[in-house]
Amino acid sequence: MIFVLTGAGLSAESGLGTFRDEGGLWTQYDLSEVATPEGYARNPVKVLDFYNARRANAAGAVPNRAHDALARLDRAGRARLVTQNVDTLLERAGARDVWHMHGRVDHAKCDKCGATWPAPERMCPFDTCGACGAQKVRPDVVWFGEMPYHLDEIEAALAEADLFVAVGTSGTVYPAAGFVEHARMLGTRTLELNLEPSGAPFDDGRYGPASRIVPAWVEEILD
Ligand code: APR
Repeated sequence: MIFVLTGAGLSAESGLGTFRDEGGLWTQYDLSEVATPEGYARNPVKVLDFYNARRANAAGAVPNRAHDALARLDRAGRARLVTQNVDTLLERAGARDVWHMHGRVDHAKCDKCGATWPAPERMCPFDTCGACGAQKVRPDVVWFGEMPYHLDEIEAALAEADLFVAVGTSGTVYPAAGFVEHARMLGTRTLELNLEPSGAPFDDGRYGPASRIVPAWVEEILD
């Protein structure tokens, strides 16, 4: 099984931008204000509007050839897809089971009881939870300082993988950034598919736009 970790670079050519490239989201917004529990507590309207805009962008985006190729690999039963992205372009490209370790911008969550449901187009602080009625609704997105989803399953999948591939991620945010070292410690081969080398210790790397290098790699795997 191939463990595939994806980041914002996978969706960049679908127009969703990245975080740390020139013009990226964290060059436009202070992440401590819009992507932390403290920022949400200070100004819920600002945070909900930030995610309302990202939800609209994601809904209007179209999967690119890299999403299509990874969906093919998933449907062929050859890959475990794990994404740091909160868009659902892999699912829209036909992937059946994607682990969103940083959550999904198209889902809402109750901070009181933990219930999750499909988010409305626009969320506001007065929304209430359908399950417990609390007025503590937030995007189902993992903020800095919070525990990512699927970590136990991810550890088990890394132990089973015979290849670890990272697509479109700068490898700067843990725990995802530590997966390549974990794979190497297990003796698993590692491959980076990225616009440019991230500097993380991969055995091999192919560099260029994901929409070109990912389909080429997947064709080799499936041939
Ligand atoms: N094709 C392939 N790779 C690309 C492309 C492209 N067209 N465009 C950009 N990239 C690469 C960049 O070179 C960079 O290495 O994608 C990576 C994007 O890095 P980041 O912006 O840091 O995004 P990511 O690694 O996904 O960030 C991880 O940080 O802010 C948090 O929760 C957020 O999930 C995010 C996490």
